[in-house]
Amino acid sequence: MVKLGVNVDHVATVRQARGISEPDPVAAAFLAELGGADGITVHLREDRRHIQERDVRLLKETIKTRLNLELALAPEILDFALEIKPYAATFVPEKREELTTEGGLDVIGHQTKLRPVIKKFQAAGIVVSLFIDPNLDQIEAAAAIGAQFIEIHTGRYCDAKNEDELKKEFSLIDHACITASNYGLRINAGHGLNYRNVVPVAKLPGIEELNIGHSIIGHAVYVGLERAVREMKALLP
Ligand code: PXP
Repeated sequence: MVKLGVNVDHVATVRQARGISEPDPVAAAFLAELGGADGITVHLREDRRHIQERDVRLLKETIKTRLNLELALAPEILDFALEIKPYAATFVPEKREELTTEGGLDVIGHQTKLRPVIKKFQAAGIVVSLFIDPNLDQIEAAAAIGAQFIEIHTGRYCDAKNEDELKKEFSLIDHACITASNYGLRINAGHGLNYRNVVPVAKLPGIEELNIGHSIIGHAVYVGLERAVREMKALLP
């Protein structure tokens, strides 16, 4: 079965909009697990716009599933991650001005910096994943520097404006899965996935886990978080 990692960043986004203590992403993680989440994902951004250190610490202590921490290659965040020791660390690019993570990590361009960091994280018992575009050269580089997982960026597939674009983007993800498997990489995917577009991606051979945030948290406003997670889980093969 394809696993579902629920990203609870946007619960913290609502909290930060008021600067108070509610809603709490830690409480949300509990409900997501009740709904069948296989893991909880959060992104500790350098600007702390949603998730705070306190959230990551409490999630690590309280969740019953697995914590996947998304992070950029920023020294202060790397130190914090090594202290917390999440189950998995997913390296993402980060730009302060972006609304959300916009593209995959340039593994080729950052390999000198990434290689020792990956080693250090793995030595600390943390599973390492690299969030990359469905690009064969980036996949090859991810394998060469020793990552265990890649997370394929599904954003362009999800944003496709017409049928041709959708087919093209889907085929890139399909090829990326085949290439990654050939390199012995394990495969997650995510970004922009929702109740309407998730199934074809979930059915691709090799996909182990999907990380989904915005669509689930958005749907939860209408139906509650436990049910929103349950409905997404029910779509996964
Ligand atoms: N995977 C990664 C690496 C991400 O940065 C994000 C967004 O934080 C997601 C998955 C989830 O994307 P969405 O909120 O669009 O479901």
